[in-house]
Amino acid sequence: MRRLRVVLWSAVAVALVAFAYLWFIGLPGGGKPWAVVAGVEMGGDFDLVRHDGGAISRDDILGRPHAIFFGFTHCPEVCPTTLFEMTDWLEELGGDADAMGYYFVTVDPERDTPELMADYLSAFDPRIVGITGEKEKVEEMLRAYRVYFNRVPLEDGDYTMDHTASVFLMDGEGQLLRTIAYGEAADMAVEKLRLTVQ
Ligand code: NI
Repeated sequence: MRRLRVVLWSAVAVALVAFAYLWFIGLPGGGKPWAVVAGVEMGGDFDLVRHDGGAISRDDILGRPHAIFFGFTHCPEVCPTTLFEMTDWLEELGGDADAMGYYFVTVDPERDTPELMADYLSAFDPRIVGITGEKEKVEEMLRAYRVYFNRVPLEDGDYTMDHTASVFLMDGEGQLLRTIAYGEAADMAVEKLRLTVQ
């Protein structure tokens, strides 16, 4: 009986040490256990166009952490709100913000030419890079990131796009670490960006 008690208390001690280690030291590779949501491999090779007209591929966005967001310039609310908020988050982050990349990928490549995206993005932080290109190639990229997008006809003959509204925070190897939801509190969003920059 006494021996069993010693064994059990030893097990408790080992568990406490392991817990304390994870809490204060973190996982191998520097992550903290409570901060890692996923670590899911996302995306694939792509061959698209930046808003400044230059070519952009997956290799160009890998190598450093990045935030990637999907939307379109005719978006009435979600996209402009998110891009304005992102502009504020980057200012809040200060110098740390330069260690990450920021991408706005169109879900509406038919209307979103590089010129239109450049004009649109000029209202936001200049570090946010617009991505567009041939429709089929853009849609292939959207599928690789498991992004929801759907063309919705409007009564006047025009159309709008439904789309995934979360910002994906990725590491330099292209793994999804965490997301920022639409409308999330600014201090939460900035903390998530800080954890991603590390
Ligand atoms: Ni939108």
